[in-house]
Amino acid sequence: MTERKHALVTGGCGFIGKSIIDYLLKSNYSVTVIDDFSTSSSIQGRPHLDIIEEDITLHTRLSKPIDIIFHLASLVGMDLCYKNNKRTYDVITKGTKKILSLYPNTPKVFFSSSCVYGLDYKSPVDEGLNISKKQVTDYDQSQYGYATGKWQMEKDVIAACLNKHKSIIIRPFNVIGENQSGTYGMVVPKFIEAAKHNLPITVHGTGRQLRCFAHVEDFTKNVFKLLNIPQSWYAQNIIYNMGSPNPTRIKDLAELIKSKMASSSPIQFEAYEDTYPGKKDVQVRIPNIRKAEQLTGKMTWQTISQSIDSILIRENETTAV
Ligand SMILES: NC(=O)c1ccc[n+]([C@@H]2O[C@H](COP(=O)([O-])OP(=O)(O)OC[C@H]3O[C@@H](n4cnc5c(N)ncnc54)[C@H](O)[C@@H]3O)[C@@H](O)[C@H]2O)c1
Repeated sequence: MTERKHALVTGGCGFIGKSIIDYLLKSNYSVTVIDDFSTSSSIQGRPHLDIIEEDITLHTRLSKPIDIIFHLASLVGMDLCYKNNKRTYDVITKGTKKILSLYPNTPKVFFSSSCVYGLDYKSPVDEGLNISKKQVTDYDQSQYGYATGKWQMEKDVIAACLNKHKSIIIRPFNVIGENQSGTYGMVVPKFIEAAKHNLPITVHGTGRQLRCFAHVEDFTKNVFKLLNIPQSWYAQNIIYNMGSPNPTRIKDLAELIKSKMASSSPIQFEAYEDTYPGKKDVQVRIPNIRKAEQLTGKMTWQTISQSIDSILIRENETTAV
């Protein structure tokens, strides 16, 4: 067997990070994780996996050679970011600068967000759209927060690439799956938790908002499909949308979960502003993934129904243990 390569994954104990680690370990990598466990807990020890508990904005000590870096560490989830705007911005921007300062010759994958498109844009949206600072500041209610942080991250990474850094920026749309926490406002685990206890499922606004949900296994598989194509790293624009292009209305999602769980939960509608005063909701968020698919060929994604089935099966297995 060939010698293992070594990857660094920041935020590796989080929801997507765990999936990236699984993929790397299966692909003959050894992995070092840096995570401060602020919104996660440590994962079970495994061969070739080394976990460092540290805040990425402060981290300085690493001695091993590293072949690739995945930077995922961030505050994530509307409930968390809304209440901690400045900290969110700082972790994203300082974390990015820290990663850019480490290992200048190592390829790096930065996880941005579809939030950088702001509140109003024509969907399906593609990476060529010119995004102004005003669009992201409007999203963050004229403060520094999640969208402004990710926007600044992208600017800093692109500037570093002009100085010969080799990087890719992934813009994930909504990613769902087993082990996702509902604590910080992620819609699918929140709905499942409410349905499980027959409690009201709260839908914001009319529930007609459109979102595209990608199962995390498909997301990870498609990210690696892209990374494994050398031209992806040398595109003029190194940003790639990533996610399922198939939209679901939020009220249909609530109905789907309720019906699959045979729950008696009422579905109740609440103004978005009642939960997040001063904040506006994005009505339609659909990615155009043609740019990535021109390199990888057609990407496959489970339907929302298949993804929910898979989450519920795993949930039942965990409850049964
Ligand atoms: N899940 C989605 O649908 C989605 C959508 C768009 C973008 N993203 C991006 O993908 C990445 C991963 O998201 P996720 O869903 O796995 O989130 P997550 O909250 O599950 O994981 C984030 C991880 O980062 C860690 N972390 C936070 N601050 C840190 C710090 N200062 N130092 C070290 N570690 C820190 C947390 O403890 C957590 O383990 C994030 O950058 C996020 O912005 C995710």
